[in-house]
Amino acid sequence: MKLKIAILAGDGIGPEVTREAVNILNVVAEASGHEFTFTESLIGGVAITANGTPLPQSTIDTCLDSDAVLLGAVGDNKFNSLTPDKRPEAGLLQIRQELGGFANLRPCLAFEALSENSPLRPEVTKGVDILFVRELLGGLYFGQPREWNKQTGEAFNTMRYSKSEVERVAHIAFQLAQKRRKKLTQVDKANVLECSQLWRATVDEIKTQYPDVTVEHQLVDSMAIHLMNTPRNFDVVLTENLFGDILSDESGVISGSLGMLPSATIGGKVNLFEPVHGSAPDIAGQGKANPLGAILTAAMVLRHSAHLEQEAKAVEAAVTKVLAEGHRTSDIARGNTAANVTTQQMGKLVHNALAESIDRQQSLHAV
Ligand code: IPM
Ligand code: MN
Repeated sequence: MKLKIAILAGDGIGPEVTREAVNILNVVAEASGHEFTFTESLIGGVAITANGTPLPQSTIDTCLDSDAVLLGAVGDNKFNSLTPDKRPEAGLLQIRQELGGFANLRPCLAFEALSENSPLRPEVTKGVDILFVRELLGGLYFGQPREWNKQTGEAFNTMRYSKSEVERVAHIAFQLAQKRRKKLTQVDKANVLECSQLWRATVDEIKTQYPDVTVEHQLVDSMAIHLMNTPRNFDVVLTENLFGDILSDESGVISGSLGMLPSATIGGKVNLFEPVHGSAPDIAGQGKANPLGAILTAAMVLRHSAHLEQEAKAVEAAVTKVLAEGHRTSDIARGNTAANVTTQQMGKLVHNALAESIDRQQSLHAV
């Protein structure tokens, strides 16, 4: 199989974590005889500096001509004074629109080896396996009109959803729930917002097509606390764009670090893969960044775009093994040992663990 992957490393720690993710994809390609090709393009602050725009047309063209897009992170404090439409983040929002993926899958796992890293007690986080399905192309992020009127001193944004936008992402969430523990929690603010009432009514209408899936509704404020108190109660969590952004960051508390969380966006022309964390300019270029979020994102490329489920699992197992051996970047050092590896060393450890497991598999097959 041939897979063309566009690499948009972006800003801050984006390039250093993406490099480790690409190394992992290369191991899989070599071992399995598949051909992965990588084309690097600019996005975010580095694109503004080079081209005066956060998303050059050439980047869009490269991405649309690819089978998958792997993105690092965007955001640079240098551009904080710019209006939202000119900032590095605008490039990210625009590429999401261009690619058309509306279902952003954000898994949250409690890694056994990191159980002491979470401020939550191990018995609370043990075994947590949540899949957030965040609607990615609607809501406050894109709704018109929007404005900050400096004359009147007023600013407004628009939360807008159509029934069909809710339906398409809800179907994906239900289908994913069917393959998991068959529970879907839909999160909204239906006691205040009409948009949320639309979400609730639409999900209730669709659920008759998925009789094997149990549906519950949660208000986003109480969901924020349930997620910390009883995270094991959740399987698939479906929600709109902004609530999904906030809740998925919150779920980093369960995993032990935001640096551990991957994501995949499906449903559009080309799937988009990005770790949940940001560009972390404060630690960029120092070898302190945790590449595991990006590496687990590479596993999602294998799962959702290359359809190599076994290989995706092998990458995830390699990450689990390296963590179990006690290797820690600084973000996951708390409560355990001090950080003992750099970004690159962590990447290399996963690389070696993966290569070993592939060798073992191949020699088993050879017998
Ligand atoms: C994320 C990020 C982005 C978002 C920002 C950088 C625009 O926080 O991917 O979660 O809000 O979607
Ligand atoms: Mn976010």
